[in-house]
Amino acid sequence: MARENWGSSLGFILAAAGSAIGLGNIWKFPYMVGENGGGSFVLVYLLCIVLIGLPVMCSEMLIGRSMKRNVINAMSKLEQLSHRPIMRTILCLLATGLVTLFFYAHACGLVILSALAIWAFSKKGFAIAGWICTIVALVILSYYAVVGAWIVEYIWRSLSNTLTTGSSFGEYISSPWHVLPSFIIFMTLTGIVVWGGIQKGIELASKILMPALFILLLIIIGRSLTLPGAMEGVKFLFKPTMEAFSPKVCLMALGQAFFSLSLGMAIAVTYGSYMKRKQNILRSAGCVGILDTLAALLAGLAIFPAVFSIAGPSGVTAGPGLIFGVLPQVFNAMFWGPVWAICFFTMLLFAAVTSSASLLECGATVFIERMRQGHKRLSRSKAVLFGFIGCTLLGFLTVASTADWSNIPWVEKITRWFMGDLTQGTWFDTVDNFASNWCLPFVAFITVLLVGWAWNPRKLAPKLLAEGDDIQRYAWLLNTWSFLVRWVAPIAILCVFLSFTGLVNFEKIFNLF
Ligand code: PFF
Repeated sequence: MARENWGSSLGFILAAAGSAIGLGNIWKFPYMVGENGGGSFVLVYLLCIVLIGLPVMCSEMLIGRSMKRNVINAMSKLEQLSHRPIMRTILCLLATGLVTLFFYAHACGLVILSALAIWAFSKKGFAIAGWICTIVALVILSYYAVVGAWIVEYIWRSLSNTLTTGSSFGEYISSPWHVLPSFIIFMTLTGIVVWGGIQKGIELASKILMPALFILLLIIIGRSLTLPGAMEGVKFLFKPTMEAFSPKVCLMALGQAFFSLSLGMAIAVTYGSYMKRKQNILRSAGCVGILDTLAALLAGLAIFPAVFSIAGPSGVTAGPGLIFGVLPQVFNAMFWGPVWAICFFTMLLFAAVTSSASLLECGATVFIERMRQGHKRLSRSKAVLFGFIGCTLLGFLTVASTADWSNIPWVEKITRWFMGDLTQGTWFDTVDNFASNWCLPFVAFITVLLVGWAWNPRKLAPKLLAEGDDIQRYAWLLNTWSFLVRWVAPIAILCVFLSFTGLVNFEKIFNLF
């Protein structure tokens, strides 16, 4: 069966930006900045985007476009095509070694998983990275949808004019029965979008609503910046301080960059597989990266001045509740506040649904194509239903634990045994930390190893261009990409991993000089 292609470059960029721009930019980025030292985090984040995120995104799109198949098959084909067969063994050893080291450093329970990973890598090779990202995508969806549920609740509150008078955010998330209905509404919305495969609907809506989201953010920034004491917030966002740099900040920034650009989860591979040769990958990835970073920085500019003005400097460490606690108060201080609130939360809901749909889509496509390969037919609706049920069940745990573990103590016991000190905080925090800060960079690490070492990036680089593009004109960009993919990205990811697990103390090493 012939594979479909994107109608136009713009369609592709919008779809990829639709997946990238979501809660990661407007909800997660500001609270991560708040918890990890403000401007220093932003600086490391920007470096991660340029030096690691964009090269990885180009590599993923390139794998997709060259292989024209789902991520699992693409990874194993890529490995078979490797022009240095010995590299396969070396890479497998390196990947499994890393998994083992990391898990060993954290908990003995996870050593079992490492053993499984070694077995899987040796038997199935790099296809296993494809499986990891498919599963991680569904796991992320299970907690992403909980935040989606909060948004549904806040839309309802704006409509009923109880935004600032209703129960506080903390009270709301600690009563699972209140969150559950909105959670199911959000998951159902995501399911419907993916089930219907309403590409035209999403694409068309993206074209109207994404610009609207940006305009709305600009309006909120206008209000936020004119509140008293707002400049302190701007300083916090853009002024790095030396003391705030640490391995943890680097790991968090790296994880956030991957999460925000939707990397390490096969989205760019899948979307790239529908890309035509007429499209220039460098340009497309650049546009998605710029739009995504702009959205995150604008969200920061909308939120921090208001936080400093309303809650003072201590407000910035409010964690996941940052936008839900502060923005309602900003809207309250605005003319026509409830109207802006409805618009804002509806846009946010839309941004969240386009991203969560891409997560579910990723799992559904893999299920369908793998079943077809085994000569079994799995209809799209069934694949979506399986993904939907799995994520919803997993999401119940997140709903039950967002305030504390008291509702599910048995899950806490098992998780702590299995993951050791990785489980700081609730199930929500654990899943978020494990999936975005460890699994995504790990899959990205495998991707750059394959592209940078098993293949030859210098030979591959021209494939990033569109048919008929002048190679000379892009030579410096292509060389930079080869260098980043081969050296900078893998070494940086490895260093961040090693230093965070405590296996290597880079601070001490630097102090030696
Ligand atoms: N990038 C999305 C966001 O910033 O909200 C979240 C996301 C979507 C992550 C899709 C990963 C993914 F595959």
